[in-house]
Amino acid sequence: MKKRNKILSFALSCVLSVGLLTACGTGDTQKEKQGSGAEAPPEKVKLLMGTSADYPPYEFIDTAGSGEIIGFDIDIANYIADKLGFELEISDMDFGGLIPALLSERVDFVLAGMTPTPERLENVDFSDIYYVAEQMIVSKADSGISSLEDLAGKKLGVQLGSIQVDLANSIAEEFEGVQIEERNKITDLVQELKAGRIHAAIIEDKVAEGHLKANTDLAAFIVEEEGEAGSAIAFPKGSELADQFNEVLREMIENGEMEKLIEKWFRNE
Ligand code: ARG
Repeated sequence: MKKRNKILSFALSCVLSVGLLTACGTGDTQKEKQGSGAEAPPEKVKLLMGTSADYPPYEFIDTAGSGEIIGFDIDIANYIADKLGFELEISDMDFGGLIPALLSERVDFVLAGMTPTPERLENVDFSDIYYVAEQMIVSKADSGISSLEDLAGKKLGVQLGSIQVDLANSIAEEFEGVQIEERNKITDLVQELKAGRIHAAIIEDKVAEGHLKANTDLAAFIVEEEGEAGSAIAFPKGSELADQFNEVLREMIENGEMEKLIEKWFRNE
């Protein structure tokens, strides 16, 4: 019901004005408001962002504090929305539901540490890459898993719909008996790992580091040969937002704001 209200309030607040018209497309979340009189101050257009808040420090629920979704991606989204004069509304869902949400225009963009891949690019557009990560294999410290070979015959967990599924598949091709276990949330993977229901999980470095810190019974190593995976912002194909967002992303890199956020979320521990 909360979500419905949000969508409705977006629909109502998407003001019909020439300057803002480009942001008010034809999707469910983008409807115009009937003018209530020339003297009323124009309301900000709401942009609906999809994310999967299971991914500290990129996006997670601040359970210890406000109960809101916070993180690196959220700060980036707020900065961009503010710069472009939009009001931001965040919608939390499973990672695997994000691209479908873009395709059905239930959200205007996705900011979720998402990596542009050729398959995804067939369906959605991406901004420039704003951060780069490496992949880690996380397991119980006493599991004896310290290289990819050690995964032979083991259960390997990955987040459903993520690029880690592809990596798990290529590991399973190379090493005998690797069983891939997909879960909706990274937090589920960590729990399964601790409970011994899976032997290892593939998690991106910064996210893995947080779990390692909070769980001293876990250990990890980097998958060297995999190279790096960038994060970018996803949009429905042809969305005019992509160029506008890229402009602000570039500005954030030039004016040091991006470095500040990287420092805040990834280094300041
Ligand atoms: N970078 C990986 C991908 O694009 C994982 C991102 C997962 N993000 C999240 N918020 N759970 O597939």
